[in-house]
Amino acid sequence: MRTPLVAGNWKMNGSRESVKELINGVVEGAKSLNGVEVAVCPPFIYIADVTAVAGGTNVSVGSQDVCTELKGAFTGETSIDMIKDFGCQYAIVGHSERRTLYGETDDVVAEKFAVVKNSGIIPIFCIGETLEEREGGITEEVCARQIDAVFSSQGDDAFADSVIAYEPVWAIGTGKTASPEQAQSVHAFIRQHIAKRNAVIAEKVQILYGGSMNPANAKELIGQTDIDGGLIGGASLKTEDFLAVCQAGQ
Ligand code: PGA
Repeated sequence: MRTPLVAGNWKMNGSRESVKELINGVVEGAKSLNGVEVAVCPPFIYIADVTAVAGGTNVSVGSQDVCTELKGAFTGETSIDMIKDFGCQYAIVGHSERRTLYGETDDVVAEKFAVVKNSGIIPIFCIGETLEEREGGITEEVCARQIDAVFSSQGDDAFADSVIAYEPVWAIGTGKTASPEQAQSVHAFIRQHIAKRNAVIAEKVQILYGGSMNPANAKELIGQTDIDGGLIGGASLKTEDFLAVCQAGQ
């Protein structure tokens, strides 16, 4: 059986002070959790403050992005070795905000996935369709295309030791959640798509749902057969809400 993972994506929110308060609250509350993995992904500049508190606890830390290059003249970028140096266990790649606001293509995301995998950090690989794509009936096609970009560069075993986050773009930060049935159907599709390459990995890979998941809807979503946790934006910024979602994953 797959252990659920609940990961908070703090995006570009918080101050040094509020971030310390949040991580202290999460670490404290997570002590009593069982049977669920917990991670938080702070803004880069706060990662050191967060790992100082979370290090050695059952709360893992991840980055929200990574550079495709390993080092050199890439002003403003952060390499995977730097992320590793600060004790991160996860790195989000291909979040829809990176894809849509910063023009990251499927190929760029696949390159990022590769640098993360090669470093031994666990990628949280985000995929999902826009509203237009859903209404056009091409949700599965879009998810398959995003996944196939990784298969073409990484081969059939690409998703070993990886996490996938299915995040319908229309559900992110909008308060509109995919219904448990809608989400389950895409999650099942994703797992079958991976199984065509490697059935063992498909059974093992954690597929998280993301998009307005909160304490009120988390239990039903995570209760679906192929939903193995959540990638939480807005609700991860409040200690109680985030911990309530983590509890729903237990
Ligand atoms: P949300 O964000 O929970 O605020 O919708 C999820 C995400 O973007 O990862």
